[in-house]
Amino acid sequence: MTRYPLEPDAEEMRRLIDGAARRIIEHIESLPSQPASNVEGATEFARSLIEPLPQRGEAYEKLLDFLFRDAIPRSFNSAGPGYVAYVPGGGIFHAAIADLIADAVNRYVGVFAAAPALVQLEANVVRWFCEIVGFRKGSGGVLTTGGSLAMLIAIITARKSIVGDDFARATLYASDQIHHAFQKAASLAGFPKGNVREIESDESFRARVDLLEEAIARDRAAGFTPMLIAGSAGTVATGAVDDLRALGRLAQQESMWFHVDGAYGAFFMLTERGRAAMRGIERADSIVLDPHKTLFQPYGTGALLVRDVAQLREAHSMAASYLPQFQDEEEFIDFCELSPELSRDFRGLRVWLPLKLFGIEPFRQQLDEKLDLARWATAELRKIEGMEIVADPQLSIVAFRLVRGGLTTLDALNRRLLERINARKRVMLTGTTLGTMFVLRICVVSFRTHLDHMQMCLEDIRAAVAEV
Ligand SMILES: Cc1ncc(COP(=O)(O)O)c(C=O)c1O
Repeated sequence: MTRYPLEPDAEEMRRLIDGAARRIIEHIESLPSQPASNVEGATEFARSLIEPLPQRGEAYEKLLDFLFRDAIPRSFNSAGPGYVAYVPGGGIFHAAIADLIADAVNRYVGVFAAAPALVQLEANVVRWFCEIVGFRKGSGGVLTTGGSLAMLIAIITARKSIVGDDFARATLYASDQIHHAFQKAASLAGFPKGNVREIESDESFRARVDLLEEAIARDRAAGFTPMLIAGSAGTVATGAVDDLRALGRLAQQESMWFHVDGAYGAFFMLTERGRAAMRGIERADSIVLDPHKTLFQPYGTGALLVRDVAQLREAHSMAASYLPQFQDEEEFIDFCELSPELSRDFRGLRVWLPLKLFGIEPFRQQLDEKLDLARWATAELRKIEGMEIVADPQLSIVAFRLVRGGLTTLDALNRRLLERINARKRVMLTGTTLGTMFVLRICVVSFRTHLDHMQMCLEDIRAAVAEV
């Protein structure tokens, strides 16, 4: 042990990296053969880990063994190819390397003056995202830790831009399919629960624009101030894309903020089919994207884009005498002026490195493949007797259920079906409720999921159908 254990020498740093690298590589190589989910007994195991503050250190190898042998395997295999539950992403390895670099050099990117070149690399990432969604000059944004935080920043920005501090009567609108991050953000931003309107969706799970218009008119007549319309560019349940053109037009007519939740779907703008589905997204005032979903980044990577970045700055900028001077050149950015965060990790590097290494093409190809796989799975599901496609994929999610016996027992039947599919542990699916019906969904997003795993998925569904 060196005199200062917190400062390893070159040899020790190499040992630390090599020890981790060996296990990481073994782990990643074995992802396809790992169970899709392995959480039986994991809660009890977690309980056994509760311990007081360690007073003395333990051997590195022993700790790595514990992590890779005992802790990591007891989880959903959310990075594996069989994970088609919730909204996967996978986590590309190159991003992990970027994280290691970013954490090891530990430069400060909250303000431009502290690391101008590094801040610019992250600013480039934000610009590239703006380019993907069709935002022009004057747009900008920030990388966040995820979609929920991006949503909160968006709603606060909208509130400050549209109604200022007097927002007790300001109302917000979204379909009944919007992710709950929207209601949560509205609540955290201080809006009374009753000011958030849930608009019924149509048979394709898109917001009913006629009902939205009526709700806005009704609220105006009752003395409310309609403030924000939120559209979904890919809902979490079925991947439904709202009519963004119509929503944008309405928001403009009503002088309201138009927000789009593209946490799951917006990166499909890289594909031709995605662009067709999301026409009108470029008219949004703000868009949430989640690189940790459809750009295959590790968890902890979200993004908020704002069409007029000045509004984001106006809502968040606050100077202090102990900070370096902020940039006044339009070209440059101090991230702390655009977000609630001051000190933060250099998260931009994990997006920058893979995009510079490969260019955008492999990402586009992956997303196109996912659109194909969801359609392939839908066609195969249709061949199963009694299988009902509840939501055809608009992007890369298909929702379905087995219809057999009386209506009252269908939910129980489908919950059993989900259990039987997942019990095989080759794939992991999740379910959700649409209206009052329980449905299963396949959400194919990971860059590790290809036709072989979708075939496996369908084999397991067929076998489970025979069992229930
Ligand atoms: C459509 C949609 N919006 C928002 C979110 C919330 O994003 P995050 O989990 O990154 O906070 C999700 C997460 O699944 C989502 O699917």
